[in-house]
This record gives sequence, structure tokens and C-alpha cells, in this order.
Amino acid sequence: MNKILRINRVVKSFDKKIFVAGDKSLSIRWVLMASLSKKKSTAYNLLISEDVLSAINCIKKLGSKVKLTSKKCEIIGNGLNLNFTNNLLIDAGNSGTLGRLILGLLINSKKKFKLVGDKSLSKRDFSRIINPLKKFGAMFESKKNRLPLKMTGLDDPKPIKYFEKKGSAQCKSAVMFAGLKAKGLTSIKAKKSRSHTEIMFKHLKIPIKIKKTKNFDYIKLKGIKKVNNLDYKIPGDISSCSFFIVLTILANKSKLLIKNININDSRIGVIHILRKMGASIKIMNRKTYKGEKIGDILVKSSSNLKAINCPKHYNSSAIDEFLIIFLVAAKSNGISYFKGLSELNKKESPRLIWGSKILNYMGVKNILTKDSIKIYGNPNLFLKKNITIKNFLKDHRVFMMSVIAALTVGGNWNINDLDSINTSFPDFLKILKKIEL
Ligand code: S3P
Repeated sequence: MNKILRINRVVKSFDKKIFVAGDKSLSIRWVLMASLSKKKSTAYNLLISEDVLSAINCIKKLGSKVKLTSKKCEIIGNGLNLNFTNNLLIDAGNSGTLGRLILGLLINSKKKFKLVGDKSLSKRDFSRIINPLKKFGAMFESKKNRLPLKMTGLDDPKPIKYFEKKGSAQCKSAVMFAGLKAKGLTSIKAKKSRSHTEIMFKHLKIPIKIKKTKNFDYIKLKGIKKVNNLDYKIPGDISSCSFFIVLTILANKSKLLIKNININDSRIGVIHILRKMGASIKIMNRKTYKGEKIGDILVKSSSNLKAINCPKHYNSSAIDEFLIIFLVAAKSNGISYFKGLSELNKKESPRLIWGSKILNYMGVKNILTKDSIKIYGNPNLFLKKNITIKNFLKDHRVFMMSVIAALTVGGNWNINDLDSINTSFPDFLKILKKIEL
């Protein structure tokens, strides 16, 4: 059953401090890394959402022991060598990150397994993972490179040379996980994308060398026999907090302090873009934790927002935030232009198309192509009409962007699908309530 949230109010001014839940990319990576160590790993502030629970269920099926409470998660994995029954069924749910990374992790499974996912994940492309993993020696059965798929790995995966051209951290990371299990040197040339896997590998003293240039990272990684355990306090998720950053920017005379957020340079495109549009966002109390940058974010309402011709080099570091950035463009002075965004249509739902659709419902003129959007902003945008967001693929970010739009531009909104937030940010509405109280 689709659940609908009705909103017909705009947010009143506020001055609040919030925490958001643990970063999703780091949480999934931690679960997968911990499953490779025979020693106990403990995580605090792990995101407890459907995507992360899917990851936990997968590694349990692969033999890891997991103890999960609301305070912490402990995992005792079963090392790098896998032992499971033939035709094991693994379910990645809604999570592209899990579905893709786990294939790399299972490169040395001599037994066949079947990977499935929900309706949204089953529409997404897996050729981007199947092709490099075939070079390692894995075999696949699938229809049109989509889920469900069957994979059989091998005892001695061959290290490969791989060129990642899309700026996809999921592709890069899947190959890195496979490279861990190959004998010899795996070399990757990767278009810039989020760097959490490299940072975790380095912290775990896995032999990895990284050379960074302006557009590409060159990674050399040696296969290993053993992975150390990893205790981790997971910092807050910049993607989750970006909804509240925008709520504050577009609200009247408001201020929000968001504590302890992961501000890895490869994730903060949203902050650079919004600042260029005139938003007041400060990062304070910067520190480094296990190689990851962390800070507190202070954001204030901004009344003079201006359009942006968004440089393409921000695309990867803001990839999950474009929907919410489009909303800021709709309330800015001038015509904003976002380009080179074909990857955005390959997410949980086709988000570039969704961005355009929602703007159309709001009466905001926009011109959509297959990889770009021009948005004609209006600082005085204020709606009185009824808007229904259908969201058949239950995309969490479509839902959360629509909620923030409803609270900042007015109108009577019926927003599907309330349950979708459970994939990445189950506390979204609870935190919103705290801000509004
Ligand atoms: C993620 C990488 C991104 C992002 C996704 C999470 C990750 O996908 O959109 O939400 O954790 O590696 P791509 O790497 O395919 O761009």
C-alpha cells in the first residue's frame, strides 16, 4: 500500500540544532568490510535503515555473526574465503551500492548464487559491474544485464586493469573488493567519485597506492590473505542533511546547526553549489576520523539566491543531492543550468526526469534533455494549488525533496510514498518535527 503524506503549510522560522543518522555509504561499506574479518568489529551510529539491514542480512547468509542493538552493531565475519551452499539467494532490496559492491566481494565464490532486488533495483544497469568482474574470471547469467542475476566466481581471480569512466564509486568499489581477493596487482583509473572505500582500505593497512590528478584517481591495489577488524563511529550523512540545509536556506529568518557530518571532499558538491548560489553555509569544528573528514554545518536562511551554471566537475560529488538543488534553483533569481547528468536517470528512479516533473507540477518553467536541465527560477515563487506526487518506484529522495518543496513554496501536497524514507533516512520526519516544534 502506498502511504501518502499531506502537507498544506509552510515552515515557520526556526533556530535549532540537530544530528542526522550515520552515513549510508559508510554504513554499507563498514558492514561489508567487517564481514571479511574473522575478528570482532563494532560500529556506533550505524545507519539503521532498510538498505543497511539488507547488507546485514546478506552477510549473515554468507556466514557472518551479527549482534545489532539500537546503540551498536557487532560483526564477526568469516574471513576472505567464502563457504555457502550452492544457489544461495541474496537480496539487495533497494540498494544499488549493496547490489554492486557485494558482487565484487563474492568474486571468489566457487558456488553459484542468485542476486535479486526490489522493483527499482531490478530496473538498474548491472553491465557496469558484470563487465569488469568477467575480466577477473567470474561467470554470469542474466537477462539484459539486470537483476535477478546468477554469478559464479572462482578460486583464483585474475587481477585486472580497469578504467572507470562514469564517475561511479559503486563500480570502482566493486572492483576494489574483487581486487582484494585477486593474486597480484589490480590497477584502476577512475573518474573522480566518492572515496570512502579507498580511505577504509588505507586505514585497514590494505596495500593500496593512490595517485590523484584533477579528473582521475589512479589506484593500485594488491590482493591480501587477511583483513583486520574495523571499529568505527559512523559520522552523519551529508545526503540526508542536505534536505534540512535547503529547508533552512528557503525558510524565513532561520538557522540550523547540524552536528558531526561526514564532509569528505568527494561528497560536498552540494555545499559548493549552494554557496555559489548565495547560500550561507559554514563548516565548523573540522576534524579527521579514520581518514574521513568530519565537521558541524551551520546554515542560515538566504534571501538573495542567484542562478547557477553548474560546473560539471561537481556532478559526482553532488550526485545524490541534485533534486534538492533543483528546488533551490526554482527559488533563485535567473536561469540555472545543470548538465552532463545522464547518471541521474540511473538512480532509484529516473531523477533528472522526476526533477523536471516536480518543477512542472509547481509551475516552474524548465527545459529537460536526456542529460541536462535548465530551470527558470523565481524568488517570489509561492503556490496555492494542489500537487500530487505519485512516486511508483518509492524513491526516498523524490519523497524528501517533495516534502521540503511543500514546506517552502506552499500549496496543498499529497506526497507518496511515506515508507520510502526507510531505505536511507527513517528519522527524516522525526527530525523535521523537532525543527518545526
Ligand atoms: C554510492 C555511490 C553513488 C550514489 C549512491 C551511493 C556509494 O552511486 O549515487 O547513492 O555508496 O558508492 P554511483 O557510484 O553509481 O554514482
